[in-house]
Amino acid sequence: MSNVKESLETSLITASTRGNYEQKTGAVNVPIYLSSTFHQESFDSFGPYDYSRSGNPTRDALEKTIAELEGGTRGFAFASGIAAISSALMLLSSGDHLVVTEEVYGGTYRFITEVLPRFGIDHTFADFTNVEEVEKAVRPNTKVLFIETPANPRLGITDIEAVVALAKANNCLTFLDNTFMTPLYQRPLDLGVDIVLHSATKFLSGHSDIIAGLAVTKDEELGSRLGFIQNSFGAILGAQDSFSLIQGIKTMGARLSQSTESAQKLANYLNNHPLVEEVLYPGLSTHPGYDIHARQAKSPGAVLSFCLPDRETAKAFVESIQIPVFAVSLGGVESILSYPTTMSHAAIPKEEREKRGIKDGLLRFSVGLEHIDDLIADCDQALLIASKIKQKVGI
Ligand SMILES: Cc1ncc(COP(=O)(O)O)c(C=O)c1O
Repeated sequence: MSNVKESLETSLITASTRGNYEQKTGAVNVPIYLSSTFHQESFDSFGPYDYSRSGNPTRDALEKTIAELEGGTRGFAFASGIAAISSALMLLSSGDHLVVTEEVYGGTYRFITEVLPRFGIDHTFADFTNVEEVEKAVRPNTKVLFIETPANPRLGITDIEAVVALAKANNCLTFLDNTFMTPLYQRPLDLGVDIVLHSATKFLSGHSDIIAGLAVTKDEELGSRLGFIQNSFGAILGAQDSFSLIQGIKTMGARLSQSTESAQKLANYLNNHPLVEEVLYPGLSTHPGYDIHARQAKSPGAVLSFCLPDRETAKAFVESIQIPVFAVSLGGVESILSYPTTMSHAAIPKEEREKRGIKDGLLRFSVGLEHIDDLIADCDQALLIASKIKQKVGI
């Protein structure tokens, strides 16, 4: 550790090496150790590594980095965000119950509703924007409260400290999916959360080039239990992708800061457009979670959603827009526009989706690094075309 008090922006760059450069060459980047196994020094003396599923020096550097950034003691790198989430949920046992935010990433919904019940692990969905609703869902066998905030795709905000207090009063753990914020903007462990989870596929890596997941714990004993699951289940991140992720993390401060500034401008623009029915962005004072989010996070982030009148106008908008890619995912250097109904939330049945406010006109916009004036001009021309479609159909 350095004796200079670093900001998180600086730690993004220094954490992976922490002055400990590779000894033979002084390489400024962590080497990629492409080795599944490690020669043991002697018959009965073992080095720090034996087999790369259990530990790999490149993955280790990444795991130490994310643990430091989140203010935890142990970090774990997984093959995907959903591998991190499902591995953490494997801490549960048959007969246990968890309460899950009803606004949750579609893949998390699928794992909780279709895989966990086969192992005797039950769940209840609750509206986490209202802590009383969460409390009503807690049962004597509840072991985990699963938070996602801001949540996907309506950017609903959970009061983290209130849910942590509820969990502690009921002897359960809290897991929090911090994908939208990253540790730069929200540090859930500082607020008492037990396990922080990430789809590092998104802002942490930032270039839409790898699939990766991360988990962080503060409590040593919980960390050992999760480490045991990581090794036993084996959904680890490879050395090459661990390296890419370390590099992505180094530029995240600059990326996220520019994308967030642009997202705020885009949200203001969309909010004033007559065709747009609703803009969901925690940086708008009209957002129902605005005050809570401002208290627990440093910034509203770079993802927003907005509602057009219906599927036809959303389709016309998507077919007319030119700069963003139309794709699943978020958090890349390129702006990514997606249609949650058939993309990220397709795993949720239509009726459940509609109950969660995922309407047919809802679009999610992950703001990249293109010039904001170009993005607004592009949205403007696409909204004009969508408006004409609406007039023609006479909705
Ligand atoms: C909030 C959130 N959590 C988890 C995931 C799953 O991550 P991955 O696709 O890396 O498995 C996603 C993916 O879109 C996500 O948006």
